[in-house]
Amino acid sequence: MSLSNKAPAPLDMDNIPRHIAIVMDGNGRWARKRGLPRKAGHSAGSETFHRAAELLAELGVEHMTVYAWSTENEEKRPPEETREIMGLLERYLKKSVRELTENNIQLDFWGNTAALSPKLQALIAQTDEISKRCTGMQVHICMNYGGRDEILRAARALAQDCAAGLIRPEQIDEKALESRMYCRRTPPPDLLIRPGGEQRLSNFLLWECAYSEFYFTDVLWPDFDEEQIRLAIAAFQRRTRRFGGLTE
Ligand code: IPE
Ligand code: IPE
Ligand code: MG
Repeated sequence: MSLSNKAPAPLDMDNIPRHIAIVMDGNGRWARKRGLPRKAGHSAGSETFHRAAELLAELGVEHMTVYAWSTENEEKRPPEETREIMGLLERYLKKSVRELTENNIQLDFWGNTAALSPKLQALIAQTDEISKRCTGMQVHICMNYGGRDEILRAARALAQDCAAGLIRPEQIDEKALESRMYCRRTPPPDLLIRPGGEQRLSNFLLWECAYSEFYFTDVLWPDFDEEQIRLAIAAFQRRTRRFGGLTE
């Protein structure tokens, strides 16, 4: 259920979240409701992602982080669903290699991409090269991503640097850990949106979301259109953020 059922207020353009994170959930149920195979839901979800990225860029959002495939999805979904998701990613990347410069969007991947196929890794490397020339909104796609895995990798990197004498244990602070995470160059999400009816993180951005505002809705991701995005941002704009301090 949405946290608010008020009609979308006109957005305050001076208070647009800098960083919006989205759990793109509900594709399978969207397809089932229409008597379609789950892959039709994933395909519709990828179109929704495309439109959402364009809209957020227009609104002036600087960072968009999307949860596309979790470490648990990789482990637990049937192999054919994994193949379908990887096929969709491949088609998306081939298209985005052409369109990124046109839209001036920077794209990068968070997660264990080293476990993806060599073909996908080559496309990701190509995308990285093109993205370096773009200056617009940054889109971070979480693929084979786990929040625990991200923290674990950073902890391991710190341990290795300690063992190599590059840093002493007493010098380890939040910055030292964060500088070894995917989010090292990205401000934390201001707003985290989860469509699809579940009210949980499912191992998404565990470190980054310490002070994010959460917005949950039953709307399934493929149906998450412009009105839904505006409703989510309007709800964010009604929140009071204190970060542990006091309201004036
Ligand atoms: C989210 O949709 C996208 C992925 C995890 C790939 P789901 O596949 O989880 O769809 P539901 O939750 O079963 O409807
Ligand atoms: C979270 O959705 C992961 C993505 C949307 C990529 P899931 O469908 O995997 O989450 P659970 O299993 O309902 O927690
Ligand atoms: Mg799901």
